[in-house]
Amino acid sequence: MLIRLGETELPLPEAPQILEVGFGDGRFTAQIAQLYPEWKILGVEVSAGSVARALKRFRREGLTNIRVYHGTAGFALRNLVAPRSLRRVYVNFPDPWPKSKHQENRLLQQHFFRRLSTRLAEGGELLLTTDHEEYWRFAQAEGRASGLFDVQTPPPPAHHLTTKYALKWKEQGRQFYHAVFRKIAEDSTPWLPLPRYPMPHALLSGTLPEIKSFEKTVVRFEGGTAVLLEATRTLDPQGGYYFHTHLEEEDLIQDVLLEARPSAHGLYVGIGRFGAPLSTVGVKAAVEWLVGWLEGQGLQVMQRSY
Ligand SMILES: C[S@@+](CC[C@H](N)C(=O)[O-])C[C@H]1O[C@@H](n2cnc3c(N)ncnc32)[C@H](O)[C@@H]1O
Repeated sequence: MLIRLGETELPLPEAPQILEVGFGDGRFTAQIAQLYPEWKILGVEVSAGSVARALKRFRREGLTNIRVYHGTAGFALRNLVAPRSLRRVYVNFPDPWPKSKHQENRLLQQHFFRRLSTRLAEGGELLLTTDHEEYWRFAQAEGRASGLFDVQTPPPPAHHLTTKYALKWKEQGRQFYHAVFRKIAEDSTPWLPLPRYPMPHALLSGTLPEIKSFEKTVVRFEGGTAVLLEATRTLDPQGGYYFHTHLEEEDLIQDVLLEARPSAHGLYVGIGRFGAPLSTVGVKAAVEWLVGWLEGQGLQVMQRSY
């Protein structure tokens, strides 16, 4: 069933760019995409299972005005969304993180509002709907404290109460809360996209040693850490090693495979393509460490690209 916009929601100009954070099974995204085929909607979701299910739904329903990013809202805002481009952001039933020691995981905090202010168009807004009164109050306080948003609390529009979680909480007789955060000013930090590097790598000469043991190693760099967890030999005896590496840096967590393998030009040490890694400062730091470690095993660097 499609529901028209509630009276509390204002109509938008033509072809606005819309963001939905945490779309879950995507039924709300599908609903607005059908109602407003002229909208350009970006859906961002961290759960891979939800992304897969929602994509099936969008395909089944033939929706062409939705783009999906599998990752966090903070990363998407900074790296995928142009400054002052968003008309509206929907956040329906965000994870409430009710325990005080977990509050730092909440999405709607001052630093998120600051970043958001640079990506919203003038007068752009974020619409929050939740069943969690305490988080609702927390988000309002954070939005106001940023000094960048006017906050109003009209009743939730009816069509916000048809998401998977809304239906679940309705059955339990829970109350719903709504807030509209309208941009009134912009943070002075431009929140430029994270710098990206060409794939860092090096060519080494010498014989790749048999690695009998490899100790988990933590490499710290400005803005994050890389943990080289283990080294694994390829099945091919002429092949090399993969180094499973876990990277945590600003806005981004990724697991990558570094590799050290013979090539026509020498021993190639760099990042493998597996998992479509993003080449960041953390990847560079991890490759740099691995090259140094191999130098310590008697290999010589012929060429460095990082
Ligand atoms: C409680 S569910 C609500 C799902 C859906 N909006 C609904 O109402 O049915 C919260 C969703 O937000 C996603 N999520 C949590 N943190 C996120 C983040 N930082 N960026 C994007 N999605 C996030 C979770 O994976 C989850 O699917």
